[in-house]
Amino acid sequence: MEIIHVSAECYPVAKAGGLGDVVGALPKYQNELGHIAKVVMPMYKTKFLIDNVWDVVHKGRTNIGDYWFDYTVIKEQTNKLGFDLYLVDINGLLDREKVYGYNDDTERFTAFQVAVVDWIAVWAHRPDVIHVHDHHTGLIPFIIKHCYKYQHLHEIPTVLTIHNAQYQGTMGWDKSYLLPPWDSWKWGMLDWKNNINPLASGIKCAWKVTTVSMSYLDELRQSANGLEALFEYERGKCTGILNGIDTTVWDPRNDSYLEDHFSIESVAEGKAKSKRRLCETFDLDFDKPLIVFIGRLVGEKGADILPSAISDSYYYIGRKMNFLILGSGFPEVEAQLSLLQKLAQKDYNVYIGYNESLSHLMYAGADYLLMPSRVEPCGLNQMYAMRYGTIPMVRRTGGLKDTVIDHGEKDGYGIVYNWASVGDITHSIWRAIDLFEDQEKINEVRERMMRLDFSWQHSVQQYLSLYEELLQEENEAPVKEDAVKE
Ligand code: ADP
Ligand code: GLC
Repeated sequence: MEIIHVSAECYPVAKAGGLGDVVGALPKYQNELGHIAKVVMPMYKTKFLIDNVWDVVHKGRTNIGDYWFDYTVIKEQTNKLGFDLYLVDINGLLDREKVYGYNDDTERFTAFQVAVVDWIAVWAHRPDVIHVHDHHTGLIPFIIKHCYKYQHLHEIPTVLTIHNAQYQGTMGWDKSYLLPPWDSWKWGMLDWKNNINPLASGIKCAWKVTTVSMSYLDELRQSANGLEALFEYERGKCTGILNGIDTTVWDPRNDSYLEDHFSIESVAEGKAKSKRRLCETFDLDFDKPLIVFIGRLVGEKGADILPSAISDSYYYIGRKMNFLILGSGFPEVEAQLSLLQKLAQKDYNVYIGYNESLSHLMYAGADYLLMPSRVEPCGLNQMYAMRYGTIPMVRRTGGLKDTVIDHGEKDGYGIVYNWASVGDITHSIWRAIDLFEDQEKINEVRERMMRLDFSWQHSVQQYLSLYEELLQEENEAPVKEDAVKE
């Protein structure tokens, strides 16, 4: 089976978060099972682009409205990522340093999607499945199905995976001219609450929709940033498939970012070496438990509660632990976390920014990883942490709920709490300190976590079964033309 993944991110080419990790791993594991999985993404100005050698495989010309542009598709020569990687170059629109965050992101990602379909339309061979990820590629199922120029592609099954439904790419109807001419009777397949909503359109038009954990799918029917009714209506085509982790990149025995490797047998000494490095670099106390946070400093991750939770913990519990924060996001949260540095007594530090290498050292050297997420579709951090013997302290939500069992329960290993609140976080910190006093138990929990299997093996099978189901369905996609309108 040939599958083409279309995504805005793919590690190590360009990554802003977990989407990149997933798209950098899933195709590799699909290929290992004998399928042909490829990735198409925008050509940003990244180090990976400069460091590698590329072949030009296609040159085309298309338009968004009356803006005509040339695009070039290039392919990495050596297949070093374990799959064919194609980048779409659209001069002036995609060739930027960051993935997102520009005023013209709507035009950028619409142009990318139009170019991808335009290229697939003239490709010598067709993929069996087009698998799109998140709202940046959510218009592709519509374009294939309802844009006149690409009608001949409409029998190719499409799958949309939702990594995060908070972001939907909403644009006004005044932007409808950006799409290639389409059947205007089908406007409802683009619309949600009087706007064009690429994520909603993807949910309506894709043959199947997946979310990155089972619990997240359940939660979306109650809370989906305005799309709850759509998830309820389309529940028949939605499935939750838990992400895996790339166990070749994330392996404490040979992690290329680490100097001190360790296995289950040497976890205590191995972690201590990485912890010592962190404590020396960030002026922390080695003897106290090290609690870290790694991630985007945004409300979804509960990052705004961290400053109060940390101050309250020092106040109510005492200075019995270290905190080390790595992340960037809302400027106010960054500022508050930086301010706490002034009060540090060799027990607090923060690194504002993105640092892949430091993140690996933190997963390896920390005792605990704090994730007080308000929304967590899957979460990869907790799975990386567990593979490195770091105990996750997570809020019971989405993928966190599906992957972490509290150590108080049978066969448990983490610290789980119900609310993203100062009280619940502080209480979890108190529990972490209490557990740390029992080193024998800590070692037992670490070993138990490191034996857990979060590899892609199981999830890849679920995706393949889903594609196979689609390939068996003949002729038309089972899209409900009367899809719910708001
Ligand atoms: P999300 O995609 O919502 O940000 P995930 O848990 O799925 O959350 O994945 C986050 C990924 O991004 C992990 O690989 C994590 O290590 C990484 N990450 C997040 N913030 C940073 C940062 N500031 N520096 C390095 N890596 C980071
Ligand atoms: C999103 C989610 C995160 C998930 C990741 C990969 O960014 O916020 O929970 O792990 O995608 O699917």
